[in-house]
Amino acid sequence: MPTVIGALKAICTAAQTSAFPDIASKVDVASSAMGADYQNNSALSLFGRLKAAGLPDGIKSPKDVAQRLADAMQLCDSEAMMAKVEVAGAGFINITISGPWFADRLNTIAQNGALPPPVQTQKVVVDFSSPNVAKEMHAGHLRSTIIGDSICRVLEFCGHEVLRVNHVGDWGTQFGMLIGHLKQVFPDFASNPPPIGDLQAFYKESKKHFDEDKDFAKLAHEEVVRLQSGDGASRYAWQQICDVSRAAFEEVYSRLGVKLTEVGESFYNEYIHAVVSHLNEIGLVSDSVDPADPSRVAKVVFPPNTKHEQPLMVVKSDGGFGYDSTDMAAVWYRIFEHQANWIIYVTDAGQAPHFELVFEAARAAGWATEATRLDHVPFGLVCGDDGKKFKTRSGETVRLVDLLDEAKIRMGKTLHERQLEQLKQKEEGATGGRVSLTEMDDATLETYAAVIGYSAVKYADLKANRISNYIFNYDRMLDEKGNTAVYLLYAGARIASIVRNSGVDMNALLASGARIVLVEPAEFKLGKELLRFQEIIELMLSTLQPNFICEYLYELCNLFTKFYQECKVIGDPAQDSRLLLLIALEKTLRKGFALVGLGYLERI
Ligand code: ARG
Repeated sequence: MPTVIGALKAICTAAQTSAFPDIASKVDVASSAMGADYQNNSALSLFGRLKAAGLPDGIKSPKDVAQRLADAMQLCDSEAMMAKVEVAGAGFINITISGPWFADRLNTIAQNGALPPPVQTQKVVVDFSSPNVAKEMHAGHLRSTIIGDSICRVLEFCGHEVLRVNHVGDWGTQFGMLIGHLKQVFPDFASNPPPIGDLQAFYKESKKHFDEDKDFAKLAHEEVVRLQSGDGASRYAWQQICDVSRAAFEEVYSRLGVKLTEVGESFYNEYIHAVVSHLNEIGLVSDSVDPADPSRVAKVVFPPNTKHEQPLMVVKSDGGFGYDSTDMAAVWYRIFEHQANWIIYVTDAGQAPHFELVFEAARAAGWATEATRLDHVPFGLVCGDDGKKFKTRSGETVRLVDLLDEAKIRMGKTLHERQLEQLKQKEEGATGGRVSLTEMDDATLETYAAVIGYSAVKYADLKANRISNYIFNYDRMLDEKGNTAVYLLYAGARIASIVRNSGVDMNALLASGARIVLVEPAEFKLGKELLRFQEIIELMLSTLQPNFICEYLYELCNLFTKFYQECKVIGDPAQDSRLLLLIALEKTLRKGFALVGLGYLERI
């Protein structure tokens, strides 16, 4: 099913070709801010082109062009999609979509749920989350996880083949220090899994050891060589450290309901040599001499078309490989082995120069072609209330598990309080008001607290333009008013409860042939917004900005509130139509919530 704007564009394109067959000019259709639904804005530039080629008979102004286009549009509208086509101003064409056409589409949504826009499916690698072994996952990794997961969900929904890759930092010289320290502190690590409770502390101790003890530093260097040469005991120790980290990462992923396939930096180690040789053969690699010590020469790549002073370092001066080398091998692997034609990297904005270099190098090497889409999806910082980078009071990295649990605990408290209130009201015999929590047992309440708490954290992250920094504030994100997950989830539950309380069997209603008929302005507004769903998904895919989905969901919930204030549902003569509209809404919200990683609760 094409998007509404896609269907309109097809009409406008056909009209333009038939009215002005000899002139090629861009067809420009957009949603309208002028009271109509859409606008065809093509007449002005088309007039310019016609003028250059010699104006046809009867055309003296852009307005004449618009009129001729408008007439042709009516003729090309075989499905009777447009109710009104009007020329306005200097040559704009305002389009009002026909009510029955809208209603028809809404009926399809009520029956089949919200559908994705048509896309040409691709093989997409999304590199996200990607924390570092032996270090605590920090707020940046939380953002990457949440944003990356939402991007994957949207791609999957549209039918793309998606590989969710966790490019875990599990390789590099720091492992010499970590393994050396592990061997000394837990000598029997081979028979007993090392009891590393606090990875951050373990990392710090190793680093301190490394910085303060010259002999240990030497030993750590030897450990790196041993590990990279594949020595059994070193590999085993490395594995143990990775396992501890993996378990810690998993605690976060399971709470967030995020799936990832780990393909860490170490995976690409065996490809780096060949990849660097290839870059060398095609003349992209040059030497970079350390001015302080001319005996130190690194191999670097200055890709054409980049302005950065800093090159990619593909071989370090000690002959080792680092982050840049690994990323070159990874991009190579993804293009040739995974056969990806779209690769997306989700990291903090600070890494933008790095990815620009990697992308340009991959293009210069001829690995990425015109048909390969490479995207870096940057995001800003998570800040505390003081507007500074999010830290604990003592300046440590915030443990993400604790942060998520805190959201759940706070939400649990709120739900308990509300339950007590509702029970009291019930005892006092009050009618009306919410009674939904009175019969809920503790375990269910706890599940709800988790769904709402984690959803709130995700939504607070996704709703802002990802480039900006945002302030992490529990009170704001757990507020049931305003643009929060809590507000959305409540709206969702309310819709579910209206449908439930109607006592109508929804499957029977859907099978009955009953149709949506839009009459009241509030119904029209809600219905029209529902049909923008596909356009929003397209927008999200072109910009990779989940905030567009969030804004859309918020708007839908607001329009639902207005609709429900103005239109009686249960017991009204229009009950069937309105229930169907609510079903279309519920199905769209469910889908939309899922695309930004939120749950959907039937009753709160
Ligand atoms: N581990 C890196 C970090 O914590 C992120 C890796 C992103 N992915 C990549 N292919 N470089 O900053």
